[in-house]
Amino acid sequence: MRINKNLFALALGSALLALSPLMANAGVNEMAKKCDECHGKGGNSTKEKVPTIAGFSAATLEDILTQYKEGDRKGVEFKKDDGTKTDMNAVAKKLSEADIKALAKHYAAQKFKPHKQAFDAKLAKKGAKLHDRKCEKCHSDGGTNPEDDAALLAGQWRAYLEEQFQLIKDRDRHVPKKMWKKFKKLNDAKIKALIEYYVSQQ
Ligand code: HEC
Ligand code: HEC
Repeated sequence: MRINKNLFALALGSALLALSPLMANAGVNEMAKKCDECHGKGGNSTKEKVPTIAGFSAATLEDILTQYKEGDRKGVEFKKDDGTKTDMNAVAKKLSEADIKALAKHYAAQKFKPHKQAFDAKLAKKGAKLHDRKCEKCHSDGGTNPEDDAALLAGQWRAYLEEQFQLIKDRDRHVPKKMWKKFKKLNDAKIKALIEYYVSQQ
């Protein structure tokens, strides 16, 4: 009986080994389903306080998720459709480094779809000029270039952008020193214009 048991274990082991690439794939799809409950199908958000994460570079996504996991970026509490509350720190804590890598690759391969939102064209034009002078260097192509080491700004929901601008202004969100030097000089009117510019890109 002993031999049979060992043989069984061996057969099971090799079957699992053969399946493992498939399981890794199923794993990331299962995980992504959970993310999509908040971030929308393929990471294109339908909720105004949730950013679209489709089409960011894998490096940027890895960096952001690690920041949440380690508590370097504080997540904003969010109420799910089923009424339960959580935040990105709690979500990311459960992810291993390998999970983060797999998810980053998954969302980098999705297409970013800018949101259709009403906007004030005059204000957006002002914002475009400000952006070119102060932000374009790092948020290139109007904040649409995934190769920058930052989240995509163009085409995100207005409510999400407003929240992030406020967090940055209040120093509740860490950004690079060089960005802060430019950001801290913005008054409310300029912030409004910049947000209008990002919203206007659809
Ligand atoms: C309960 C809802 C919820 C779930 C589940 C969730 N997120 Fe989030 N996520 C948010 C909200 C809200 C924000 C924006 C506010 C913040 O920073 O916490 C966010 C922010 C992010 C950002 C930052 C984007 C940016 O523009 O800076 C990334 C990346 C991200 N989430 C990835 C994920 C991944 C990957 C998963 C699945 C493992 C996931 N999220 C699951 C709600 C959620
Ligand atoms: C020196 C480069 C640099 C400059 C200049 C810069 N940024 Fe950034 N910005 C970054 C980086 C890098 C991040 C990502 C920070 C992080 O998540 O740790 C970022 C993040 C952001 C975010 C958060 C986006 C999100 O969803 O996570 C906003 C909003 C933003 N920048 C707006 C601006 C605006 C507006 C300007 C011009 C006034 C500007 N930035 C200028 C580099 C820069």
